[in-house]
Amino acid sequence: MKEFFSLACLLCCLLATGCKQNAPAVEAGSVTGDQVRGQYLLATYGCAACHRIKDVAPGQNQVGPDLRSVADNSYLAGILPNTQQNMVRWLMHPRSLSPGTAMPELGVTEKDARDMAAYLYAQ
Ligand code: HEC
Repeated sequence: MKEFFSLACLLCCLLATGCKQNAPAVEAGSVTGDQVRGQYLLATYGCAACHRIKDVAPGQNQVGPDLRSVADNSYLAGILPNTQQNMVRWLMHPRSLSPGTAMPELGVTEKDARDMAAYLYAQ
């Protein structure tokens, strides 16, 4: 069911907008992206070394905030209103948005950031 929903979202997104970078920010909860791919990416980018993430990093990884409930936060990293567009921006370039942050630049692409955000918001 989740897979079908992700695929349907992806198709709608491609047909409707071509997933343009300047698409308007959407509220957490109505996100586009492939959650299944996102879960895989959260493990392979090494996010799990610092964050607790549902079904990716079940241990006590608390360098960064616990991401199991990130959808409920008003702000990301205390500075950005919590929208999918801002989550994507943050995952791609945390240090340009907040120069002093401990979160490193990991070379995340926009597509990968979208998929990871879709997974995180769905938990
Ligand atoms: C070296 C540790 C480290 C790694 C690796 C890391 N992060 Fe972070 N992350 C942090 C820290 C620390 C913060 C808090 C940033 C701040 O408040 O300035 C943070 C903040 C965040 C936030 C905002 C959460 C909130 O509640 O405000 C998200 C979302 C996030 N990280 C996702 C990721 C993802 C996805 C990856 C992998 C692509 C990743 N992080 C990799 C340390 C890390």
